[in-house]
Amino acid sequence: LNDGKLIDWNGKTDEVFSTISSSEDYQKTLLGTVPHMDKETALEVLESACHAFDKGKGLWPTMKVAERIACMENFVSKMKLQREAVVKYLMWEIGKSMPDSYKEFDRTVEYIEDTIEDYKDLDRDSAKFSKKDGVYAHIRRGPLGIVLCLGPYNYPLNETFALLIPAIIMGNTVIFKPAKHGVLLISPLLEAFKESFPAGVVNVIYGRGREVAAPIMQSGRIDVLALIGNSKSAIALQDQHPYKNRLRLVLGLEAKNPGIILPDADLDLAISECISGTLSFNGQRCTALKILYVHESIQEEFLKRFAEKVDSLKFGNPWDENVNLTPLPEPEKPAYIQGLIEDAQQKGAKIINKKGGEISENFIFPAVLFPVTKDMNVYQEEQFGPVIPVKPFSEIEEILEEIADSNYGQQVSLFGKDICELAPLIDTLVNLVCRVNLNSSCQRGPDVFPFTGRKDSAVGTLSVHDALRSFSIRTFVASKDN
Ligand code: G3H
Repeated sequence: LNDGKLIDWNGKTDEVFSTISSSEDYQKTLLGTVPHMDKETALEVLESACHAFDKGKGLWPTMKVAERIACMENFVSKMKLQREAVVKYLMWEIGKSMPDSYKEFDRTVEYIEDTIEDYKDLDRDSAKFSKKDGVYAHIRRGPLGIVLCLGPYNYPLNETFALLIPAIIMGNTVIFKPAKHGVLLISPLLEAFKESFPAGVVNVIYGRGREVAAPIMQSGRIDVLALIGNSKSAIALQDQHPYKNRLRLVLGLEAKNPGIILPDADLDLAISECISGTLSFNGQRCTALKILYVHESIQEEFLKRFAEKVDSLKFGNPWDENVNLTPLPEPEKPAYIQGLIEDAQQKGAKIINKKGGEISENFIFPAVLFPVTKDMNVYQEEQFGPVIPVKPFSEIEEILEEIADSNYGQQVSLFGKDICELAPLIDTLVNLVCRVNLNSSCQRGPDVFPFTGRKDSAVGTLSVHDALRSFSIRTFVASKDN
């Protein structure tokens, strides 16, 4: 999709294979092809976005709010018709279970509808005048310009749209690059974009980041870099921009969210929340619990029951009934997880669940590792996959130190009952991370609540409300009392 046209691509292409194999020998199915764009094509796409913005004079950035909302409403009604097609791709391309695939689609529709409502409120508030010292101010919210959006493979629809939708509705023009895995699921929606927005407002690039996204950044014409993914890619792209001070960043990055299980925790609840927290979508969520700290007084019972529960999880294809674990879309992930396990074993940890580490072509069964120590790679790295490091503790201060020293600061889950003990702990933890979950696992939603992080976990805040502000700037018209 470029400049309001669906291009009939004649150039080089990349083949997209399924994550799911339909046969025993792991033969992947060819699902389709996508353009393998080069620098020149990427720069043409950039030109379309710049032309549509037209230095703030374009049709889209100057359009009345009600008209922009009508375009977005039109888009979401067309998008809803593509539910089955998108869900099918979510299952085949990234191996997301059927219920979670439907959830991702429906959550995205709700996100767009909430964004539209919030934008109406924002516009109503902006319509008010302020007066101070004889100066009247008519405050407005205006677009920032050209936005480059890149979404992640674990939520290729929802998180890409969590960037794209607020950016578009605020009057910016956008170029987006679909995630490497989850690239085809955008295809059923391209027609809806084309029919709902003026030419050049929404444009898509495909290909290697260094061949297409890097030259776009090097042009110096990007005003906002919006990316959900890893900090390495975010830094590499920022570094390409010749005028960094002009670039606004909206970034959702890595996390190493800890689950802390205190001596008086309700163990049934803690175990069930830690299972979903560590292993939903095989642990491939930035909000996943990526390390568990268990008090030494309950460690034996916790570990025994937790390990049994992990072993009882069912592996299968996304459409199988009650499936908990599914194939991994990144071909290199099983070997990476195996490497983390071996490193931890060499440094003294054991796999404490029977099936832990069983490996097949595109899957590794979750391994619970205990006791984990600071020198292990699994302690230091964001594993983003099915391995669960567990570290014992005796004093809570040890953990607070570790969280404070971490490079990340997104969320924490705290399991315990004694409110007198929990209250001061919460007061400290909210100064180290951005969300403390009491007796529940970490998560991003509901999407109306702020989603952000400290340190290397995020730049800016993503929620329906905050994202509209992240992709716009307050301006005002002043007049004097004379
Ligand atoms: O990968 C990071 C996502 O923001 C996680 O979102 O907590 O809704 O699964 P979630």
